[in-house]
Amino acid sequence: MTRAPRILVFDSGLGGLTVFRALAAQRPDADYVYAADDLGFPYGSKPEDEVKSLVLSALERLIADHAPDGVVIACNTASTLVLPLLRARWPKIPFVGTVPAIKPAAEGSRSRLISVLATPGTVARDYTRDLIEKFAHDREVTLVGSKTLAGLAEAFMQGESVADEAIAREIAPCFVEKDGRRTDAIVLACTHYPLLLDFFARLAPWPVHWIDPAPAIARRADHVLSERFPTHSVRDAAFAFVFTSGAPPAPRLLKTIEVLREKIARERQIKALA
Ligand code: DGL
Repeated sequence: MTRAPRILVFDSGLGGLTVFRALAAQRPDADYVYAADDLGFPYGSKPEDEVKSLVLSALERLIADHAPDGVVIACNTASTLVLPLLRARWPKIPFVGTVPAIKPAAEGSRSRLISVLATPGTVARDYTRDLIEKFAHDREVTLVGSKTLAGLAEAFMQGESVADEAIAREIAPCFVEKDGRRTDAIVLACTHYPLLLDFFARLAPWPVHWIDPAPAIARRADHVLSERFPTHSVRDAAFAFVFTSGAPPAPRLLKTIEVLREKIARERQIKALA
């Protein structure tokens, strides 16, 4: 007898909701636990060893508490560092990571000028340099590590107001002009950034393709899980939201969570009728 999978979606904060949204659309039959390591946030400015131990200790607890069938690390800063460690520690659990979408950006760019907007940690990783070497060695790649954008996205999701200037300043270095060419593709290499996409699009000095890897990650997670867990008949499935600190979500975030919950319920209904 088959059953629906229980999927743990993990991030340092609320950025992973951008991956969760896509995942829930792809697999509305699954049970979900979304976990934000607010105790460890932000990962992006911390030394690698500290990020490794934060992720390992948070997952130690979350996996023991929720016994997931699969884990999606919805965080570039963590994925570019800890995936091999996690797979070694929990060899029976499939882990799907989120890493900078450099390949589609390089393929889609006509000007051959692309930028990668990420946390300072992701920008500094060997993993990111290797992706560039592999998929974009014949492109000009500008790496932009922002110290503040993930925090601004958190504030925005918690209902605080965020100044346009603060965002415009952070994205400005992504826009490069050279020999009559302009950057035309920007990789959103931190899962928090798609939460600010409306700001980015409005404040950009010229239009570009903003590359959000969430749908591709959702397809990958579905692919990895579907052999053991083929899409199940739709029924009332669970969605739990946890902060590692145990704090309750702020009102605006609660609203976002409710909207996501309703969206999953609607997609479940549509699938059930199909
Ligand atoms: N959401 C995380 C990422 O994708 C980073 C946020 C943080 O600095 O903790 O990289």
